[in-house]
Amino acid sequence: MLEIKGLSKSFDGTEVLKDISLQVDKGDVMTIIGPSGTGKTTLLRCMNFLERADAGIMRFQDAEIRLKTVTKKEISRFRRHTGFVFQNYNLFLNKTALQNVTEGLLARKISKEKAEKAGREALDRVGLSDKCAYYPAQLSGGQQQRVAIARTLAADPDIIFFDEPTSALDPELTEEVLTVMRKMADEGMTMVVVTHEMGFARHVSNKVVFMENGKIVESASAKKFFENPAEERSKEFIRMVG
Ligand SMILES: Nc1ncnc2c1ncn2[C@@H]1O[C@H](COP(=O)(O)OP(=O)(O)O)[C@@H](O)[C@H]1O
Ligand SMILES: [Mg+2]
Repeated sequence: MLEIKGLSKSFDGTEVLKDISLQVDKGDVMTIIGPSGTGKTTLLRCMNFLERADAGIMRFQDAEIRLKTVTKKEISRFRRHTGFVFQNYNLFLNKTALQNVTEGLLARKISKEKAEKAGREALDRVGLSDKCAYYPAQLSGGQQQRVAIARTLAADPDIIFFDEPTSALDPELTEEVLTVMRKMADEGMTMVVVTHEMGFARHVSNKVVFMENGKIVESASAKKFFENPAEERSKEFIRMVG
């Protein structure tokens, strides 16, 4: 469904991503793990055209995109089929939960009635049907992140990207967000998740990509990675965080 080949990216002459290749199939939950500063966020941002890669191609559904010369049209097509959940939610503070969720749908010229129906359904899926009229400031961090997830769900994406969706949250609130994500995984949603949550990587994801210093060290099934990693560095990392 989504394939990346040979993605590289430098900032000011320093290469932060080196020849990254990976493949996401329909229904996969891929976790991208590794130490801080390794390039995980940059990879996700390059894969979503929030950042321009210097080299590499993407195959997405039936299209092949050259990352360096991607066009506006290619980006908007990609965005119509994908969602992105940020570490800090990125909600509009002056809009209610429901308005945040429907905003993107209305921008796509979907009728107010249909958008609100889809918005309420999405909020219901993340357990927030009673919070439609609340503003972000009236919600906990965990609830705000669930609104952000509902916003992506409402658009019925084929794949959702998450960049450390729980790293700004206390343990309890982390759990409520992970529960929603686990449910999405069970329902077959295709997800690519940058995370430090090793329990999620081990028990919910089916594919693990372990990165360090801008490179993929090991890419394997979650079972293989955690039970019998091929690389010495992977073993060390698992010992350290596991
Ligand atoms: N906009 C930017 N300009 C310059 N350097 C950046 C920028 N964004 C990230 N970097 C650098 O790229 C490297 C990878 O960062 P990042 O992708 O945020 O890592 P991770 O998400 O794994 O912690 C780091 O050395 C970081 O300082
Ligand atoms: Mg990061």
